[in-house]
Amino acid sequence: MTKNKNNQAIWNSRIKKNASSLFQKVGNSIDIDKRLYKEDIQGSIAHVEMLFKQKIISFKIKNKIIYGLTKIDKEITKNKFEFNKKYEDIHMNIEKRLFQIIGEEAGYVHTARSRNDQVITDFKIWIKNSTNEITSNINKVIKSTIKLAEKNVETIMPGFTHLKNAQAISFAHYLMSYVEMFNRDKKRFSNNLNSLNENPLGVAALAGTSFNIDRNYTTKKLGFKIPTNNSIDTVSDRDFVLDFLYASSVCAMHISRIAEELIIWNSDGFNLINLSDKVVTGSSIMPQKKNPDLLEYLRGKSGSAYGNLFSMLTILKGLPLSYFKDLQDDKEIVFKSNDNLNNCLKIFDEILKNCNPNKSKMLELANSGYITATDLADYLVKNHSISFRKAYQKTAAVVNFAEKRKKKLNELTLEELRKIEPKLKDDVLKVFNLKNSINSKKSYGGTSFDNIKKMIIKYKKEK
Ligand code: ARG
Repeated sequence: MTKNKNNQAIWNSRIKKNASSLFQKVGNSIDIDKRLYKEDIQGSIAHVEMLFKQKIISFKIKNKIIYGLTKIDKEITKNKFEFNKKYEDIHMNIEKRLFQIIGEEAGYVHTARSRNDQVITDFKIWIKNSTNEITSNINKVIKSTIKLAEKNVETIMPGFTHLKNAQAISFAHYLMSYVEMFNRDKKRFSNNLNSLNENPLGVAALAGTSFNIDRNYTTKKLGFKIPTNNSIDTVSDRDFVLDFLYASSVCAMHISRIAEELIIWNSDGFNLINLSDKVVTGSSIMPQKKNPDLLEYLRGKSGSAYGNLFSMLTILKGLPLSYFKDLQDDKEIVFKSNDNLNNCLKIFDEILKNCNPNKSKMLELANSGYITATDLADYLVKNHSISFRKAYQKTAAVVNFAEKRKKKLNELTLEELRKIEPKLKDDVLKVFNLKNSINSKKSYGGTSFDNIKKMIIKYKKEK
């Protein structure tokens, strides 16, 4: 863009000073991308080492640049670095400071690279590191979930479909289902790491470079697997950002489902779980209240995770290749999602440590709603040589019979049951016992106490 004396774009003679100063105000990203300083310095050091190895810069210049960059790293870490909005972003802030420290030779650092490949290199390394932090927070949640499950293998509750009592299960089985979700989340994040493991450094602005660089060298130095294959795609690609935002959204969604469930179970209507005072809040007007605000916070936060994913998808929609300023927002979006998810995981871990089942209520609820009806149908198939559909019909008749007499299934006598199926023997009464019902579900992945114990051991070993 050609500029006139006053540093204004010549294509616009109507919007003068205001336009450029306003852009200066909004166009800089230093407040956001200063979080990339360590990765930026790491990338620059690898870059100049490569430039020296390839005889593009001298030994002396390489060492001077590394000295300056190391000094800058320390300054920033110790909060002694003055970030300046005038220099737009982290890359320019560091480069400017490098000039101040080592003088004109700083001008060699940007040989054979552009901010376009520089920023993606930094960002990919940052996402790798932050994925480690997220994974470690997920691991903590998994550990706390397993701990609570271990204490509750024999805690009986109703499993729900449509939020109606469905079949008896162990509370630990429910908790272990969360472990499955969180393990998938970990996999989703680590899959992203595999696909972002291509080194962008050296593609420069968009076309590659005429310098004889060695991209394999920086790839190794920076811990990537291979260099990216196409320079245009490299500077335009933000798929790895979308993958990260998607993985964060799914994990936040899992937390929100569990949070919603715990909110329902903590409600006065259900009263299935107790939350300790550490994780509830009071009301300003109703002194009796203990509200599950933290769980509501977790439920709500999935909204901003999705919002961030959609922001990035929308920025990328229809965006031509290659680099555009539009892309600069990617970092703010990812940082927000990252911080949000880490917070949610920490809060959820705290909740798990401060949440206990109300065992008697769980059992009481499990005893209602004809929850062992399927067990009776299964019994009929196994002991009376009839098909499951036939057995289903007979069981429905038993449930109708009990309902009319306002009885639970385990309150029916053998005589009453024989009115519907005369061949029934007294061992049928065992199927109405909740513990028997749970322990009969021995199929792999089912809720029997033994299965759960084995699953818990398996996951504890994996850790
Ligand atoms: N701060 C910029 C960003 O994050 C760095 C890339 C600038 N490239 C450019 N061609 N203006 O997007």
